[in-house]
Amino acid sequence: MQIVTADKSGIDEAATVIRAGGLVAMPTETVYGLAADATDEEAVARIYELKGRPGDNPLILHIADKSTLNEITDTLPDYANLLTDAYWPGPLTLVVRKKASLPAWLGGHPNQVCETVGVRMPGHSATLSVIYQSGCIIAAPSANKAGKPSPTCAEHVINDYFAGEPSPDLLVDGGEANVGVESTVIDVTGNAPVILRHGAITTQMIEETINMKLSESIQKTRAPRAPGMKYKHYAPNAPMTLLRGTPENVAAYITTQIVADIDAHIGVLVTPKVQACMDKNWRVMSIQGYSTYTPLVTTRSLGENNEKIAKNLYANLREFDTRGVDIILAEALPEDGMGVAIMDRMTKAAAGRILDVGVYV
Ligand code: TXA
Ligand code: MG
Repeated sequence: MQIVTADKSGIDEAATVIRAGGLVAMPTETVYGLAADATDEEAVARIYELKGRPGDNPLILHIADKSTLNEITDTLPDYANLLTDAYWPGPLTLVVRKKASLPAWLGGHPNQVCETVGVRMPGHSATLSVIYQSGCIIAAPSANKAGKPSPTCAEHVINDYFAGEPSPDLLVDGGEANVGVESTVIDVTGNAPVILRHGAITTQMIEETINMKLSESIQKTRAPRAPGMKYKHYAPNAPMTLLRGTPENVAAYITTQIVADIDAHIGVLVTPKVQACMDKNWRVMSIQGYSTYTPLVTTRSLGENNEKIAKNLYANLREFDTRGVDIILAEALPEDGMGVAIMDRMTKAAAGRILDVGVYV
């Protein structure tokens, strides 16, 4: 896999590779994508092969210009225009009904039929330049192998494609992705939008922009959901448990586990607040003579606000894989604003294991 930086010559190279039917791993503002000409059947089939992605899970089309959306659909409700005006370019994907004149498979695997298609205009200047210069509509899933956390830097992509195995033709290194979790996916084929995947564009932001309250029951039940949401996702190698409770209680639970399981290498993923409580517990225990050994613990800070937590989440999960931890104990977070998207990813990483460690100290 050839690696270039996201400067003018790297962008030129990426556009050339895509035009020639190749696959390019490249940054966007959310996560790194694995990009190809969306109309090239062979290239798109190769995306599915490289990622190990099931054929029934469609791809997002990436465009460099809002007007390109009119080439893909002719049935946009007014509220969808409000959303693109407010958030494009940016981390928002619209699922739209596809024009009948387009290939039936476009947006999915070449052997599938897709009536709808996800479209987004990424908020990253190098990505927009590659799309623009290639002259293509670009199909790009996240560049990770299926089941792994999405890559948020070039190194993550390199780690997913082992030397000697099939890999993307080119990797554009654009540093760390800014947002860190994948785009918000919204179905705009009905009278009201339905959020299929939460992201940095939150429910509240959408409601304010379109001046419409999104019904919670519809959000929960209406089909189609994003097919990708049914697959196991974002999973680190070690089993992970989310702990819900006050910082003191979460810290106390983790400290107890560390002491109880001295043979295990424990990965700890908590906010600075919980970390401070853990440090205090540990000092008290050492003074009282309980701690005569150095436990094997890898602690990663989640970060002090949602933006930082989202930006570093996948790098933190991947770090636990690199260190080879045996179990991961992570702090559950409040589900407000972007906390919904973060908890969605963390809950999947933990395969749904959430432990209530008590609300009262
Ligand atoms: O931020 C992002 O969206 C990143 C960057 C690279 O753009 N891309 C990304 O793509 O996350 P991917 O393929 O990993 O996730 C796309 C999600 C999947 O859950 C898929 O099922 C859903 O969007 N999706 C795509 N097309 C759809 C459609 N026509 N109807 C419903 N869901 C769709
Ligand atoms: Mg993905």
